[in-house]
Parts: sequence; structure tokens; C-alpha cells
Amino acid sequence: METRQLGKSDLNFPAVTFGAWVTGGWQWGGSDDEMAIRAVQRGIDLGINAIDTAAIYGMGHSERVVAKAIAGRRDQVIVATKCGLRWDREEGEFAMDSFMPDGTPCNIYRNLRKDSIKYECEQSLKRLGIDTIDLYQCHWPDATTPIAESMEALRDLQQEGKIREIGVSNFQVDHLREAVKTVTLASNQPRYNCLERAIETDVLPFCRENGIGILAYSPMLHGLLTGKVTMDRTFPESDFRSRGSWFKPENRKKVLDMLEKIRPIAEGHGATLGQLAINWVISQPGVTTALVGARDEHQVEENAKAASFRLSEDEEKQIRALAEGLVKAE
Ligand SMILES: NC(=O)c1ccc[n+]([C@@H]2O[C@H](COP(=O)([O-])OP(=O)(O)OC[C@H]3O[C@@H](n4cnc5c(N)ncnc54)[C@H](OP(=O)(O)O)[C@@H]3O)[C@@H](O)[C@H]2O)c1
Repeated sequence: METRQLGKSDLNFPAVTFGAWVTGGWQWGGSDDEMAIRAVQRGIDLGINAIDTAAIYGMGHSERVVAKAIAGRRDQVIVATKCGLRWDREEGEFAMDSFMPDGTPCNIYRNLRKDSIKYECEQSLKRLGIDTIDLYQCHWPDATTPIAESMEALRDLQQEGKIREIGVSNFQVDHLREAVKTVTLASNQPRYNCLERAIETDVLPFCRENGIGILAYSPMLHGLLTGKVTMDRTFPESDFRSRGSWFKPENRKKVLDMLEKIRPIAEGHGATLGQLAINWVISQPGVTTALVGARDEHQVEENAKAASFRLSEDEEKQIRALAEGLVKAE
């Protein structure tokens, strides 16, 4: 698997990283732990030796599953996790109401206060069963906390050796400008796929110009761009896709029609549509890695091959043009 330096940091990420949101089950209609462990391990075997998780993914559950998957192989993997979404403390900026894995209702708050970040880091280290987090990221900006305060917390943790590199997620250019006054940011983690290209306006150019790596999330739009979410596929209510705008029948139909037009490009490379969607993302200048979620070994095996071919400039443009109508319609 091709590797790329993350920003100006010492971390070299594979072009495809394992995204462990679905691994926590939360918002994905549950997950099977044994299957998830095998999926992560198969990924490591195939060169997907970086894992992106977060405390909120299953309220600690994803981190605990990742810990089991990497036990005995810690030296082979880059572990990235995130802080700043609290389900256990009502303080900070209200984010959303949700449910605990056992179904109990809870409120989620964005909290990037110094004491909260330090507390969360300890919890994540324990759950992951490791001494140092390779990349520690603020999950979402918290409007109630000065960015300098959050960055000071991360800088302290870095100096104490509890985290190696500092990253953020869902930060806009103003947030990034503020953050780099206090720390060297290794990365930002935004949403990016051929249908959701908002970061191209300013976030992507800013990161490129300032040597900040990009971990692009939802490269297959939660699986929709694999073409396998056909019109008859249904999702349980506990899977957020049951309510997602792109998954509504009228939008799903438009995406499936677009994918049929793109299919010859995939076939020309002996690739699947999912591999093409991932490849398009990692082909974009400035993108370090695509964070790809997978439930089982088979999905991982398919996703691992996504970096094994090169799109021509013309093909990249064709995909961009075919997606354009939908980008505007949404
Ligand atoms: N920072 C943030 O705010 C944020 C937000 C979202 C995501 N992320 C990160 O990005 C990662 C990936 O994003 P994502 O989970 O939204 O979306 P994604 O990678 O675009 O989609 C993953 C889903 O697609 C399906 N899938 C995966 N491989 C497949 C294959 N080969 N064939 C068919 N279906 C396949 C699986 O779901 P089914 O089998 O159920 O269809 C899987 O859970 C997350 O795990 C997380 O690490 C971060």
C-alpha cells in the first residue's frame, strides 16, 4: 500500500485508513465485535495499518474493539482517535440528542475545554490499551471554548508523551488559522467525496498551502457510492442512513444513475465502484488518506485494493463532471 507523509509530521499514513465508526455500532444499527476485529486485523495484513476511531463511536466501544484487534501488533499500526464529543457530561456546546448503545437516551455536547480534553485522553489511552496516541484530534469545534485553550491542552499532552501528533476534524479555515498560532497541526479531518466537495473552496487549499495533512472521511458516502445500496435496501431506524438525505429514494435513484455512467471507468481499471470512489478521493492533491469504514474482512479486502491503480486526469474530470449535477442539486 502506498504511504504518504501526514502534513509535516513523522507519521506516514497508508493511502487507505481503516475508519472505525461503524466498528462502534453506534448510529450504524449495531455491529458484530468478532467480525469487526477480524476486519481491522485483515486490514493491517493488507497494509491498512492506520486506524481512525473516536471516543464517541459507541461511547468508547469502538476504541475497546480496536484495542482487541491491535493487541500484540501495536508497533505495526498508527492509532488515531478523537476527543471533544461528550455523552457523559452536560457542559459545552449542545450537539445533538442521541442514544447510548443500550438504548438509553443521552445528550451529546461539544466540549474542548482543557480539563475535558485531558480527562478524555486518559480514558482513550485506557480503552485502547496503549501508552501514546499517534494522532489525537479534536472531533468538532466547540463554540464555547477558545481554540487556544484546546490547543494548549493538546500541546501539554504532546509534551507529556501521551500523544504524538495533534490533529483536528471538521475545522473551517478560521478555526485552523487560530489553532496554528499555538500548535503545529499535523492534520484536519473533513468530509470529502466526489459528491460532497465543500472543502475544495477553502479548507483543502488552506491545508495544502500550510502543510496540514487531510484525512478525508466518508469517501464512499457511507457506502452509497459502492452502488450496493440499491433502491430496495432498507436500514433499521438505529442506522442513521434510514434518515439520511442522500439515501432518500429520489436522491438514491439519482446517485445510482450517475454510478452507471461512471461504471465504465471503474471497469477500465478492473475496479469496483467503491474502489473508484476511494481512488478519486486519494487522487486529489492535498489529500493524505481516505478513511474507509468496513464491517467485515470482505469489505476490507475490496477497499485495500482501492489505491492500486491511477486515474488519468481525464477520468478524474469525467467523474467530477458526472457528479456535478448532483453536487448542485443537494
Ligand atoms: N470526523 C468526523 O466527523 C467523521 C464523520 C464521519 C466519518 N468519519 C470517519 O470516516 C470513516 C469512514 O466514513 P463513513 O463510515 O461515513 O463512510 P464510508 O467509508 O464512506 O462508508 C463505510 C460503509 O460503507 C459500507 N462499505 C464499506 N466497504 C464496502 C464495500 N467494499 N462494499 C460495500 N459496502 C461497503 C459499510 O456499511 P454497510 O455494510 O452497512 O453498507 C461501511 O460501514 C469513519 O469510520 C470515521 O473514521 C469521521
